[in-house]
Amino acid sequence: MSTPTQPAAAPGPATPAPAAPFLSVRDLYVRFGTEDGVVQAVDNLSFDLERGRTLGIVGESGSGKSVTNLAILGLHSPNYTKIAGEILLDGDELTGAREKDLEKLRGNKMAMIFQDPLTSLSPYYTVGRQIAEPFVKHTGASKREGRQRAIEMLAKVGIPQPTLRVDDYPHQFSGGMRQRAMIAMALVCNPSLLIADEPTTALDVTVQAQILDLLKDLQQEFGSAIILITHDLGVVANTADELLVMYAGRAVERGTVKEILTEPQHPYTWGLLGSMPRLSSSVDEPLTPIPGTPPSLLAPPSGCPFHPRCAFPAEVGGSRCQDERPLLAPGRAAACHLSPEQKHTLFTEKIKPRLG
Ligand SMILES: Nc1ncnc2c1ncn2[C@@H]1O[C@H](COP(=O)(O)OP(=O)(O)OP(=O)(O)O)[C@@H](O)[C@H]1O
Ligand code: SF4
Ligand SMILES: [Mg+2]
Repeated sequence: MSTPTQPAAAPGPATPAPAAPFLSVRDLYVRFGTEDGVVQAVDNLSFDLERGRTLGIVGESGSGKSVTNLAILGLHSPNYTKIAGEILLDGDELTGAREKDLEKLRGNKMAMIFQDPLTSLSPYYTVGRQIAEPFVKHTGASKREGRQRAIEMLAKVGIPQPTLRVDDYPHQFSGGMRQRAMIAMALVCNPSLLIADEPTTALDVTVQAQILDLLKDLQQEFGSAIILITHDLGVVANTADELLVMYAGRAVERGTVKEILTEPQHPYTWGLLGSMPRLSSSVDEPLTPIPGTPPSLLAPPSGCPFHPRCAFPAEVGGSRCQDERPLLAPGRAAACHLSPEQKHTLFTEKIKPRLG
């Protein structure tokens, strides 16, 4: 029997496709070939970031935070680095992009405040010249305009007497001043994507607050997207919107800062929170370091990479934690085999009372 044909639906207004995120990282892998073998520095990492938002990335030393961000900027040497996956910035594919195209984007559309000021400031040129250089290069401004812009930027990052200090060489600056000069260099072209790798670690608390305010101002004025890599949960709590927790080159938990700070779901995040200075000073519990050390990325553990250090594989049962890798679902999620109920109960009954 033939089924009656449905009348064709009247053509309505087309539903617009959802806009692609400003930055979209999909299934990113970064591998280094070394004499000892292949370092699996970043493994199956995905995240999105919108304009005007700040993503905090936290994780112990060696968890892949800097390597991820250097991959976004295209700064790994192609000779011994293998990168797979997708990095889309405002619709442009960055993995496999030509160096010439990446150079156009770096310092202009995307910029990075590096972890170590000495690696990004040359000892042979004045601070002012180094700050002005990307501005002159990308805007076509004259050298004189570039110098003026450098003075303006030095003043913005709180260097006293910027008109005099603009002609200093990096060795004439203190460590904290060098870090601020580097921040000025990254911000000089008002980048749409700013990656800040531990931008305030060497600074005292007052300057730290000034720099974070400066980043917020930049974001408000130009709608920039910011990736903030930090060990300091205080910085994340006050500055970031979303948070990505990394362990052994993988994202293990993702959520808004509020979600992760109020009810973290991954045992590694619980460990990180327990080992970091308390956000609330009313809790006297001593800091508890996570037992053991991060794994070698030459041969990461099977199953869940955190299993050798985790206190909860028995709660999952059997050898599932050792055998099966937990994946990170999209949205608010933690890559862990514990059930949502187990995560909630363990956190509220065992972990939270110690964190306050
Ligand atoms: N060029 C390289 N060649 C080989 N291995 C590397 C290279 N760069 C980084 N690694 C390794 O990749 C892993 C991730 O390093 P990464 O610098 O991203 O750590 P991180 O999370 O930024 O740590 P930290 O908090 O100490 O800065 C580490 O095991 C590191 O030794
Ligand atoms: S999957 Fe298992 S080992 Fe990994 S964090 Fe969860 S409970 Fe711990
Ligand atoms: Mg780093």
